[in-house]
Amino acid sequence: MQLESYKSYCLELRKNNIFRKIKHTTQNNSFIDFSSNDYLNFSNSQEILEAAYNAGKDFGVGSTGSRLLSGNKIIFHELEKKIAKDKNTEAALIFNSGYQANISVISTLLSVDVLKAQPLVFFDKLNHSSLYQGVKLAESQLIRYNHNNYNHLVDLLDYYSTDARPKFIIAETLYGMDGDVLDINKIAEISKKYSVLLFLDEAHATGILGESGYGLSTCLDYNEINYVAMGTFSKAIGGCGAYIACSHNIKDYLINKCSGLIYSTAPSPMVIGAAAKAWNKISTLQKERLELFANANFLREELKKMGFDTGLSTTHIVPIILKDNKLVAEITNKLRDRNIMVSAIRQPTVVTSRIRIAISTAHSKDDINQLLYTLSTI
Ligand SMILES: Cc1ncc(COP(=O)(O)O)c(C=O)c1O
Repeated sequence: MQLESYKSYCLELRKNNIFRKIKHTTQNNSFIDFSSNDYLNFSNSQEILEAAYNAGKDFGVGSTGSRLLSGNKIIFHELEKKIAKDKNTEAALIFNSGYQANISVISTLLSVDVLKAQPLVFFDKLNHSSLYQGVKLAESQLIRYNHNNYNHLVDLLDYYSTDARPKFIIAETLYGMDGDVLDINKIAEISKKYSVLLFLDEAHATGILGESGYGLSTCLDYNEINYVAMGTFSKAIGGCGAYIACSHNIKDYLINKCSGLIYSTAPSPMVIGAAAKAWNKISTLQKERLELFANANFLREELKKMGFDTGLSTTHIVPIILKDNKLVAEITNKLRDRNIMVSAIRQPTVVTSRIRIAISTAHSKDDINQLLYTLSTI
């Protein structure tokens, strides 16, 4: 009975052209890859590979246990200290993945037991699945506001203004499927006015946005705004894992309450060695980031001239919104046949199906012209 249910679920997806497959990949350098989140081209960097190897030699491949038992290593503390410094927060805490950090940290912050009340969570409609799962895991009240629509957010906060329950806002600073950016000053102003705890996901902004590339939360003053910033090592940093940048108080609370930290083996020292090396390089890549944005602007303008809808994008993530699942799959496959990789993004990940193009610092203007030319021929 159960097995039949799983089968018919997949059959329905196939009918709607949204059945997912893990495709075979080739280590073929002739591909131009616009599907990767390796925005700063770190994942194959020789010096970062060496940093991973050296950390492995010093501390082992695995960390052998939870941070609270056998798994703690000095390099974890060193990286956390550096992250806190560059994020302008008192403290930081590392996690195994962005998904794990979001789901476990958010549900811990929303704990009804600890808050002694059901929290109200004001939640951007386009937030990532891991943020949603974190809220769902807690017994909180989810209140969605229209994407980056601060008037709507304020209307909702006004509506609940006499409600004494603890309030949270959860948003991303750079939206991974749309490539648009949060108005950080506006959200900070709102959070302060309504005494909200702000949770910012900087998965796609880490390495890319902010004065030295350490994300948009670096613009905030923690004496003024109550906030927690999360970011990953899995996108621009080219590895895997995540961090939370926060106050000492919240770090202490997470160490004592967050099951995703307490009951999970600490990250591999090799992964953290690599992340630490990449983290330090971020601030040195100002010129590369400017070029990245110039290339993205060029791509967006040319796509628009060709009649494509690039949606809300203002960054290096450029969607081509096609609103047709079949067409998205067809174009993605045709580009792949011509050695160009892009991502086909369909429901339920997004409402309007699209091709997602992610530009990295490894892409040249020629690569972008090649993409544009190939699109024009199909
Ligand atoms: C906005 C956002 N948050 C969190 C995650 C999860 O991060 P990770 O891939 O490190 O688990 C992703 C991954 O795609 C993401 O886009």
